[in-house]
Amino acid sequence: MDFEAVTNFIQKTFQTETFLPLHEPRFIGNEKAYLNECIDSTFVSSVGAFVDRFEKEFAAYVGSKYAVATVNGTAALHIALLLADVEQDDEVITQPLTFIATANAISYIGANPIFVDVDRDTMGLSPDALKTFLETHCELSDARCINTTSGKTIKACVPMHTFGHPCRIDEIKALCDQWHIALVEDAAESLGSTYKNRHTGTFGILGAFSFNGNKIITSGGGGVIVTDDEELAKRAKHITTTAKIPHRWEYVHDEIAYNYRLPNLNAALLCAQMEKLDLFLENKRLLTSEYGSFFDAASITMVREPMNARSNYWLQTLILNDKEEQESFLTYTNDHGVMTRPIWRLMNKLEMFKGSQCDDLSNALWLEERVVNIPSGVRL
Ligand SMILES: Cc1ncc(COP(=O)(O)O)c(C=O)c1O
Repeated sequence: MDFEAVTNFIQKTFQTETFLPLHEPRFIGNEKAYLNECIDSTFVSSVGAFVDRFEKEFAAYVGSKYAVATVNGTAALHIALLLADVEQDDEVITQPLTFIATANAISYIGANPIFVDVDRDTMGLSPDALKTFLETHCELSDARCINTTSGKTIKACVPMHTFGHPCRIDEIKALCDQWHIALVEDAAESLGSTYKNRHTGTFGILGAFSFNGNKIITSGGGGVIVTDDEELAKRAKHITTTAKIPHRWEYVHDEIAYNYRLPNLNAALLCAQMEKLDLFLENKRLLTSEYGSFFDAASITMVREPMNARSNYWLQTLILNDKEEQESFLTYTNDHGVMTRPIWRLMNKLEMFKGSQCDDLSNALWLEERVVNIPSGVRL
């Protein structure tokens, strides 16, 4: 591969010769106005009009009945797993190719992750691998999915829509239903992406999104849980707000819970960012087509949205020939002012998760050695 030509093309696409980050936030709308309004209101913390407004607007956008805002996406996942009845010593199936937060949230509860392979095209959990794992290692007993290797209950499954590309979530859902496993979607990266015209994050009983600074819209830090279940939504709100019983002056809390509510200040930013989301999505598709023409002509594989899916193209992704090329590419581009990065080290290779049960993970291992992300921000 001609690294110099690729680097020059990326710089030209972003019209810059100075350092080019992977994904910069864009604040081009009402962010400052809403922040000022929020500050003037003095409601800067966990109660305020912007949090309530954001929750309503977000739920309406993705087509879920309820949304509960949290301090970040990791907290959203943690609470979603608790609400899916995951308890200490339970097991949760997820993919090895993900950001650490997915596995961390499982571990916060004292549950154990099981890593099942991904598909090469979506880079998300493979329903075929999941089916094989369940049929080989599990049996149903009293409507519980028992892992015959460990003797433990598999309570939940957390697929992740990698870099915004939807995985085959309807097939995963059908398997989860068949095996009495709760489906919790890690949609942290995929706001705006749809699968068969339905938003990612809304297929499971609960879904979690992130608004970290690198995401398609951001509030600095922030997250949200979505669900169609009124009871789960009420519980999500309750245990993310220290389980305080509403009262005008009394401090009574009815369980040990969490201080995970998104501050109103962050929600003010998010309300402004939501107003620009469709514009950002459109802008990222334009980048995809410009990148696509160049990489197709250069015979370099660029990841496109999978079948039946519309992707938010959060992070643009190339699949290189091998590990050697991946390392040379990362070195050259980062040395020449273009930020690029490899896909995550597989979770099961990290010290904390080395003993976790896995299948052969052949696709994840293949992708780990080849995938790189290139600058993907909104150009405005
Ligand atoms: C796949 C995935 N899950 C979870 C998270 C956690 O979100 P946060 O950083 O908001 O805690 C992120 C991103 O940061 C992510 O990419």
